[in-house]
Amino acid sequence: MRIAVVPGSFDPVTLGHLDVIGRTAKLFDHVFVVVTHNPGKSALLAVDERVRLIDESLADVGIHGVQVDSWSEGLLVDYCRRVGAEAIVKGLRSATDAAYETPMALVNRDLAGVETLFLVAEPTTSHVSSSLVRQVASLGGDVSPYVPRAVVAALQPEGPIRG
Ligand code: PNS
Repeated sequence: MRIAVVPGSFDPVTLGHLDVIGRTAKLFDHVFVVVTHNPGKSALLAVDERVRLIDESLADVGIHGVQVDSWSEGLLVDYCRRVGAEAIVKGLRSATDAAYETPMALVNRDLAGVETLFLVAEPTTSHVSSSLVRQVASLGGDVSPYVPRAVVAALQPEGPIRG
């Protein structure tokens, strides 16, 4: 049984995240998507809401065999040990992502021998980030090209401002 963890802040989940989760589900027997606390970021959505939005979005696009969870009790590698995961999977959109992700991957391997695998982001979503989505939504722009329907409804219940 090969188990992978796809971790992230998912604040909110984007179409890029869903692509990486779906591709990971094809490679592993079981996938845990885990919403973790990033001490370097201040959050827009509550962790429970982020979990709900990922759950709904996976069902909506027909990605099955994935369990969505949250983790705030310590290191990501502690969660990996708990669920028996041998790999962490993350998407890479750019060289900037690689520079940000590489030290974390090495520390996670030092801490617990857990390997990190990177999937190259699908080009149609490689410019999409949760932080840009938060900014566009907060200023009334249309985020529907970037996020699943459930997230559009959560961030813009009355629809985007149209000029
Ligand atoms: O989506 P993000 O914010 O880029 O994800 C970063 C995340 C949440 C995966 C990272 O901050 C993390 O692993 N946090 C859990 C705490 C931890 O294990 N820190 C040490 C990582 S080397």
